[in-house]
Amino acid sequence: MKASKIRTENLNKVFHTRHQDIYAVKDANIDIRVGEFVSLIGPSGCGKSTIIRMIDDIIKPTSGSIYIDGKEITSYKRIPKEINQKMGFIFQLPNLFPWLTVRENVGIACRIYKIRDERTQRYIDELLEMAGLTEYQNAYPAEISGGVMQRIGVIRAMVHKPEILLMDEPFGALDAMTREKLDMEILDIWKKLGTTVIFITHNVEEAVLLSDRVYVMGTNPGRITREITLDLERPRSLDLLTERKFQDYCAELTECIGHVDLRKVK
Ligand SMILES: Nc1ncnc2c1ncn2[C@@H]1O[C@H](COP(=O)(O)OP(=O)(O)O)[C@@H](O)[C@H]1O
Ligand SMILES: [Mg+2]
Repeated sequence: MKASKIRTENLNKVFHTRHQDIYAVKDANIDIRVGEFVSLIGPSGCGKSTIIRMIDDIIKPTSGSIYIDGKEITSYKRIPKEINQKMGFIFQLPNLFPWLTVRENVGIACRIYKIRDERTQRYIDELLEMAGLTEYQNAYPAEISGGVMQRIGVIRAMVHKPEILLMDEPFGALDAMTREKLDMEILDIWKKLGTTVIFITHNVEEAVLLSDRVYVMGTNPGRITREITLDLERPRSLDLLTERKFQDYCAELTECIGHVDLRKVK
């Protein structure tokens, strides 16, 4: 079995608001192996974003531990740059800088991490090519479509060659056809680069199409309720969508999520 890349141990996050304490994540234990593609799925508000924000050190856990490559990162006040640099974050909305060109937006991490070498410029060329964005590189965000913007969000997170990609519903705002196309592109990139992926979605088909394994989450408190390993061959293609085994997994996951919602109603 491959080594553990990301592991959490009894991870908790409570948000204290003026009116109440929100248990956003309760006792989450996840373990993701090097090169694995794992999805977090569950209804809105079950703590999916909170989990990956804690992994990326955007927010601090209330208690519990996070390990990256076996090293506990929760013991640091701010995690060291060399660990932070192992991660790339792809947001639901790419939030591009409108005054920068596509190419400059893609290269923003170079400014943050002060990477100035020629090799990185060539890598940006490669990434633009891989994502079919070469022809847009000198355009500004206002001039391009949502699908193109989301591609920029994806490769922007990869410029500094992260070993881990954390994706927070990256294609949730797109139409189904564009999403499926980008899903397949993500699989290509993942295969080429061998990154470890945590992918958040509330779309069951998308989770099954992409993942090796899925953690199902429920609300109130936000927690992991199930873990399902998907025994489906790779490389995956959209033909999988019509296969019995694929549909059975989708039905199983839908049922898991449904049960969680029922409990919430009670
Ligand atoms: N900064 C915050 N302050 C207060 N509550 C928050 C904050 N961020 C998230 N929450 C709450 O924590 C819960 C989990 O949120 P989130 O992780 O965004 O869920 P998901 O991504 O699964 O939709 C929700 O009830 C949400 O309202
Ligand atoms: Mg979210």
